[in-house]
Amino acid sequence: MFRIASLALSPLLLVAAAAVSAGSLPDDWREWRAVDTPLARIGALPGCDADVSSLPSIYQRTVYLYCDVRPEGPGEVRVLVSDSALPAYHFRNRNFPDGAQAALHLSDLGMLMVTTWEEGTPVYQVFTEDGEEITADDGPLSAGACAECHTDPSCVAGQCGRIE
Ligand code: HEC
Repeated sequence: MFRIASLALSPLLLVAAAAVSAGSLPDDWREWRAVDTPLARIGALPGCDADVSSLPSIYQRTVYLYCDVRPEGPGEVRVLVSDSALPAYHFRNRNFPDGAQAALHLSDLGMLMVTTWEEGTPVYQVFTEDGEEITADDGPLSAGACAECHTDPSCVAGQCGRIE
């Protein structure tokens, strides 16, 4: 199975793993709720030769940016939301409690992209499943890359998905 150690060898992800630390991955993230969003329905992020032209543009951009992490694509993806953040996530009303509350879980890569809210402001980080922070300084695993998409008009207070 592909783990983060081999991932780091991918040219796309050859970036220094140092980070401004906003928070750590809560121990109970495995108990967060898997929610049914458009991306969760796709089930997996495909490789670069997949035809994703029918998807909304932010999803196409997501595939283009992450498809070559491994040849067949990043693979299985789930959107996880903590119980305390579920109402905010469901209603898209910006009322996120402080702390790490939502994750894009790429289980085939053993990686979580995590959003932490601090007084309503989203902070983006990347962790291994063991809680080691691997947010990069630049490139697709940097907080700047996350913010580029997560400030899209289709996203609300850093939340891009919606429960369907
Ligand atoms: C190319 C665009 C793009 C980039 C870059 C991106 N995301 Fe996302 N992200 C999305 C989209 C679109 C969704 C919602 C998909 C869905 O659930 O239907 C999403 C969902 C998420 C979610 C689930 C909560 C939510 O917002 O619905 C988290 C957490 C997340 N991303 C964190 C990150 C982090 C951390 C980074 C940077 C390492 C990042 N994302 C980079 C597009 C992007």
